[in-house]
Amino acid sequence: MIDFSKDFPLLQTTDEMGRRLAYLDNAATTQKPFAVLDAEADYYKNKNANPHRGAYDLSMKATQVLESVREKTKRWLHVPEDGEVIFTKNATESLNLVAYSYAMNAVSAGDEIVLAVSEHHSNLVPWQNVAKAKGAVLTYLYLNEEGRVTKEEAQQKITTKTKLVAIAQVSNVTGYVNPVEDIIEMAHKVQAVVVVDGTQGAPHLFVDLGKLEADFYAFSGHKMLAPMGIGVLYGKKKLLEQMPPFLYGGDMIEYVEEQTTTFAPVPQKFEAGTQNMGSIAGFGAAIDYIEKIGMNQIRSIEDELTAYLIEKLKGVPHLTIVGSDSLENRIGVVPFVIEGVHPHDVVTIVNKDLIAIRSGNHCAQPLHNFLKVPATCRASVYLYNSKDEIDRLAESLKGVRRWLGYGA
Ligand SMILES: Cc1ncc(COP(=O)(O)O)c(C=O)c1O
Repeated sequence: MIDFSKDFPLLQTTDEMGRRLAYLDNAATTQKPFAVLDAEADYYKNKNANPHRGAYDLSMKATQVLESVREKTKRWLHVPEDGEVIFTKNATESLNLVAYSYAMNAVSAGDEIVLAVSEHHSNLVPWQNVAKAKGAVLTYLYLNEEGRVTKEEAQQKITTKTKLVAIAQVSNVTGYVNPVEDIIEMAHKVQAVVVVDGTQGAPHLFVDLGKLEADFYAFSGHKMLAPMGIGVLYGKKKLLEQMPPFLYGGDMIEYVEEQTTTFAPVPQKFEAGTQNMGSIAGFGAAIDYIEKIGMNQIRSIEDELTAYLIEKLKGVPHLTIVGSDSLENRIGVVPFVIEGVHPHDVVTIVNKDLIAIRSGNHCAQPLHNFLKVPATCRASVYLYNSKDEIDRLAESLKGVRRWLGYGA
């Protein structure tokens, strides 16, 4: 396996004992390669001005960065002619934009909004808010015994009452890839609009929005090597053009009179105020970095690491993988519990061995309620991880119960 960790400065640092961090919390955020950090610094060193606002060279350079990264994003995601890309600050803002600007106007009393019980709160709470405001009903897709969303469940729950379907491409807790293509087809048959939360999809899967036919697709740059503070919302232009702005102010207007305003065309209509230009430059570099390695290679590295992680976790006494140990249709996100130990204690104990994994409900409380586990530990890999780091995790996990005074 190629060692990509050398491209990541944080992963090269060592503690006073000469140990390197085993960073296995990539579903929360990824580390940033030199190329991304350099692009961000280069923006502020050489190109910094407010884009879209000045007729002088430097401002035009900034505008050129903004628009070229938009074009790159569109090419990378295979955005069709009738689609557009809007920059936001993260997936949460992208999803709220759709909830406020689209759903608050399109959903009426008695309509149903269908979503999976495994959704991240960012793709759940905004729809609760819409349902409450409009008198609509939230209808949940429950999971099969493996913890997966199934086509059969979607077939039952998506009906002529369904106005909107909100579904993650990949669960941030189980790592399972949801059957989004089938769900989109079912939803479109009943004229429902589909919002895909691609936050755990875009960094790990080949995405072709022309083929996927989602009406909206949202994700965050920081989970795919880019800086924090940059998110993407893809939407079909015919919907975006009908929607009112989400935020109002500078840069999103055409003409402003004392009492009225006309708005700029899409995408500017949804990009009020000054953009996070350093992060946008870094996001462009992240796409370049990912494209240079290639999604095929990223997938095969992750598949190999995921299989190894699951095999090693299965060798830890008293450890149970939540969901299933199936490798089918999943990314390298694996939730687990250790009998008799609170997940927060597990994480604190492995932290002593300089290993970073996550514990808690991972912003998916309804999922944990459904699975009847209050909290889980979660290990998640990305392209720069190694089998050696997974070995370290497994060894450290074997010591957790002993550390707490259990016999074994
Ligand atoms: C599936 C999913 N959706 C949405 C989000 C929210 O992302 P952000 O906090 O970057 O807005 C996350 C973050 O963990 C996620 O995993």
